[in-house]
Amino acid sequence: MSSSKSVLSVRDLKLYYRTRKGVVKALEEINFDLEKEDTLAVVGESGCGKSTLARALVRVLPRNIHTYEGKVILEGRNVMELNEEDFRREIRWRKISIVFQGAMNSFNPVYKIGYQVAEPLIIHDHLEKKEALKRARQLIELMGMPGVFADRYPFELSGGMKQRAAIAMALITNPEIVILDEPTSALDVLTQANIINLLKKIKNEFKLTYIFITHDLGLASELANRVAVIYAGKMVELSSADIFYTQPKHPYSKGLLASAPTLSTDRRPEFITGVPPSLIDPPSGCRFHPRCRFAWEKCSSEEPAMFQVGEDHLVRCWLYGDGK
Ligand SMILES: Nc1ncnc2c1ncn2[C@@H]1O[C@H](COP(=O)(O)OP(=O)(O)O)[C@@H](O)[C@H]1O
Ligand code: SF4
Ligand SMILES: [Mg+2]
Repeated sequence: MSSSKSVLSVRDLKLYYRTRKGVVKALEEINFDLEKEDTLAVVGESGCGKSTLARALVRVLPRNIHTYEGKVILEGRNVMELNEEDFRREIRWRKISIVFQGAMNSFNPVYKIGYQVAEPLIIHDHLEKKEALKRARQLIELMGMPGVFADRYPFELSGGMKQRAAIAMALITNPEIVILDEPTSALDVLTQANIINLLKKIKNEFKLTYIFITHDLGLASELANRVAVIYAGKMVELSSADIFYTQPKHPYSKGLLASAPTLSTDRRPEFITGVPPSLIDPPSGCRFHPRCRFAWEKCSSEEPAMFQVGEDHLVRCWLYGDGK
């Protein structure tokens, strides 16, 4: 059941890709609830399914989809039941918007930044071009950029400025939920800090709910009040950020935190040995068992469920399950 306060509830979301080598089980059994103005950090190593989750939520999918199912409940309505036309008209960009991974490098080189920020209004809302451009310029200024940048081409802007424009583009349709997929990963540390500050500011100003995707736990701690850890396509830990950063439970989460240089100032970072598994033929039982130093027989034969270990804390690990 989704709680009445939830703006977004996700239930058993699953997405598989079809490839020549077999079916990639990129995302399975994804369940979480977000309340208004939450920031959920979604963390995990490269290839664990973070961008797949983002794309599944806004239904921007590649052609080679094998399975795409589950419930995405927005304000009480399962939007997975909407056809593409209704989803595009009512949900994508309007209710839930996204800054795609690498967005700042995806601007069309031949159009001015202002036009590209305004484009969703012109194309989807059929707003008059002049009015749309005016709104885009205002938003560009709100993003901390001089308004004249609207008249520049993408190549005339720095990475940080392009990323601000990409954020403006995601906001122009006035969404309630914004997915930010690795929004600062290609930027230098100072620019990263500036973008994080901007994200905090606009979140307060527009009362936004964020899904903040990152492989950087230090960055996640700056913004998030909730954390979801994904390993090999499955959520393995979900809790409030306070609990996650002080009492992580899953062996993988502990490894991630220990290997985050910014968070382990008093000790040398440790690294999780081994590499993430293939999602075409994932390990049996707990998908983390080949890399887990606590693993025992049960871990390789039976898959753990998400066990409740605290009021707001779920962990997918037999160490916390019954009958260990
Ligand atoms: N279009 C696709 N076709 C086949 N496999 C894909 C496709 N997109 C992503 N994958 C695979 O799905 C898994 C999850 O990828 P992704 O969601 O991009 O991970 P992350 O964003 O966490 O790095 C990876 O194994 C990746 O190779
Ligand atoms: S279920 Fe077993 S292998 Fe998986 S994380 Fe827990 S202890 Fe490690
Ligand atoms: Mg990604």
